[in-house]
Amino acid sequence: MSQRYTFLVLGATGGTGKHFVAQALGDGHTVRALVRSPGKLPSPSPNLQVVQGSIADPIDTDALVQGVDYVVSMLGDKNLQRDNKICTTFVKKLVPSMRKHGVRRFLYQAGGLSRPYQGSLSPILWLLRYTLARGFDGQHQDNEAVMEYLATEAMDIDWIVHRAGIGSDGPSKGTLVRSSKDFSVATHRDCAEYSYRTIMENAAIHTSDFSCYSKV
Ligand SMILES: NC(=O)c1ccc[n+]([C@@H]2O[C@H](COP(=O)([O-])OP(=O)(O)OC[C@H]3O[C@@H](n4cnc5c(N)ncnc54)[C@H](OP(=O)(O)O)[C@@H]3O)[C@@H](O)[C@H]2O)c1
Repeated sequence: MSQRYTFLVLGATGGTGKHFVAQALGDGHTVRALVRSPGKLPSPSPNLQVVQGSIADPIDTDALVQGVDYVVSMLGDKNLQRDNKICTTFVKKLVPSMRKHGVRRFLYQAGGLSRPYQGSLSPILWLLRYTLARGFDGQHQDNEAVMEYLATEAMDIDWIVHRAGIGSDGPSKGTLVRSSKDFSVATHRDCAEYSYRTIMENAAIHTSDFSCYSKV
């Protein structure tokens, strides 16, 4: 890859984030990671900039986005999100800083069971959300508030929402493609690879699609 970019990665120590960081560094890009526990990151690399902090703390979002080409959020803390929209609060601080520093592209990873703004979920997805996945409802409500904010107050930003389905941290099961109706339960690795590819895809701007395994 000839072009080198700087990615601000939020959630870099998580199931999806760790694969995203490995792929971006492996391709020679620079990663700036905001993390609570730097010890969870891979071994130091000259292209890995570590900023220690929590999105729930007062963070200097201007410093965080300065010099960045792409911002990707794979944040989540289902216990905190049960009662607090930590991602929404943070995204509402982050976006004005992105505007100020001319950073336009933002990929936010939500869940397949998070309802897109003014959209709907199929009956089967609603059923899953309130049975097997009921422990994640606060996280979905937070994701939904982020989607509403992006759609109503941040259309000047080139945002993309990935409504991921994740079942395990196992090996790759194939290539995920963007879909407005088909949904796959994928691995963290495949979701990270999809988000890495999709953040650079102009056609994905202002979409809140699922990812599903390609059948070809
Ligand atoms: N996991 C699933 O089954 C699933 C399925 C579909 C969609 N999703 C969506 O994808 C997102 C990411 O999923 P994942 O499984 O990759 O998440 P994960 O493994 O739980 O990782 C979440 C990441 O967010 C970081 N984080 C949480 N609270 C933070 C805070 N206050 N400040 C800074 N960083 C914080 C965590 O840091 P620490 O390492 O410090 O905890 C971790 O790096 C979820 O939020 C959800 O919206 C998840």
